[in-house]
Amino acid sequence: ASLAAAAPDLAALKAALAATDSPLRETATNLVFADGGPESGLMMIGEAPGADEDRLGRPFVGVSGQLLDRMLDSVGLRRAENFYLTNILPWRPPGNRTPTDAEINLFLPFLLRHVALVRPRHLVLLGGVSAKALLHAKEGITRLRGRWHVMQAEATGPLPALATLHPAYLLRSPAAKREAWSDLILLRRTLDRAVSPGS
Ligand code: URA
Repeated sequence: ASLAAAAPDLAALKAALAATDSPLRETATNLVFADGGPESGLMMIGEAPGADEDRLGRPFVGVSGQLLDRMLDSVGLRRAENFYLTNILPWRPPGNRTPTDAEINLFLPFLLRHVALVRPRHLVLLGGVSAKALLHAKEGITRLRGRWHVMQAEATGPLPALATLHPAYLLRSPAAKREAWSDLILLRRTLDRAVSPGS
């Protein structure tokens, strides 16, 4: 936590993450830090890198990332300009297993510092691991999704956070795309209202 808090900028935070001991670091190939536009005002937080992300060192570049890009594109949001992406864990868990609480707790101070440095106006939490970790919620993602919450953290101050389904889940359960679509409409409306208040 003190290493994370001491990082003055994103490059220093990335270096601090790379230097932090974790068994995950031993089995992963590349640190996966972030992608997209840090100035965009919109920060999306996924779970953990998969095999493609581990190989390329960038978040959401595999099939679920491609689905995510297509869905966001359909509401006019493009990765390079309109949003910034990272994950709860910066290293791929072996075999893509679910992150453990210990892994989440180790890397959470880095993630919160990441959010504090980027200073987004809105957060999108992709999937149950991200939503539960950042909202300290007991409910599952099917109950949390579809509405704005307030993420409360000392490092960041309160921030509006929309919980939605993870694109990897949508690949397994295509019928749920209907819910994800309605979450994206809500996101789009909120962003539109934020840029043109009173309209
Ligand atoms: N799933 C995630 O949660 N993050 C990635 O970067 C890729 C797949």
